[in-house]
Amino acid sequence: MPRFDKYIHLTDTHLVKDAGTLYGLNPKQRLLQAVEHINRHHADARGAFITGDLTHNGHDNAYAHLRECLDTLQMPVYPILGNHDSRANFQQNFPLIQRDAHGFVQYVVELEQHTAIFLDTNEPGVHWGVFCQQRAQWLRAALEKASKPVLLFMHHPFFPIGITSMDHISLRDTRPFEAAIAGLESRIAHCFFGHIHRPIFGTFRGMPYSTLRSTNHHVALVLQDQSLDIVGKNENPQYGVLLLGGTQVLLHLEDYIDSGEHFILGG
Ligand SMILES: [Fe+2]
Repeated sequence: MPRFDKYIHLTDTHLVKDAGTLYGLNPKQRLLQAVEHINRHHADARGAFITGDLTHNGHDNAYAHLRECLDTLQMPVYPILGNHDSRANFQQNFPLIQRDAHGFVQYVVELEQHTAIFLDTNEPGVHWGVFCQQRAQWLRAALEKASKPVLLFMHHPFFPIGITSMDHISLRDTRPFEAAIAGLESRIAHCFFGHIHRPIFGTFRGMPYSTLRSTNHHVALVLQDQSLDIVGKNENPQYGVLLLGGTQVLLHLEDYIDSGEHFILGG
């Protein structure tokens, strides 16, 4: 068995003010259940990546509750912003997370076998993603500098997924992003998203990508519907267990709130 380095992928935690409820669910409670499950089963993970929509309304108090949850996670946490977040309130509560020279929450973390690059697609006042020239120039420089295979983390996907309502609020102008990666696609071993609230896997110009269910509410799989209304659906929340080893990037999905008992298959 190859040596794997383990990491956790969480997304769209959507915490609200005063640890209240959202769509009939309690985001803080659901996140705490994930944290407890991760600590019990994956305490050997080297870090946890959270791909945005950390809070639902960007409220300062919601970030304080988020920090309280994440402080109990037994590994470093690497968050990015989503469309529901507030850059200012995030920075107030997570002052140690780096920013680029223009104040965007973009940073690089050198892992054992990969370079992790975290991007900021948040734009105040809108739900679609924005990746401007300034952010794209930073990404280009980070990609050119990377000496190991790159893992890219961003909230919004930069391609249509076939759900009209979500495509409407995806990365709106993809040209700066596409220019930033042009010719360097082979350096990107995997791209991780949030935003969609349901599992998706695929490739773009040969780059593998994935996302997974939110720890709170979900989006129904409604295709060929031109409505811009986002259809919600409550499914099992998930987190991802990422195994990195040699040339492998392997992602397991764990439905951590699950009444199914373990049993031994045989016969
Ligand atoms: Fe979200």
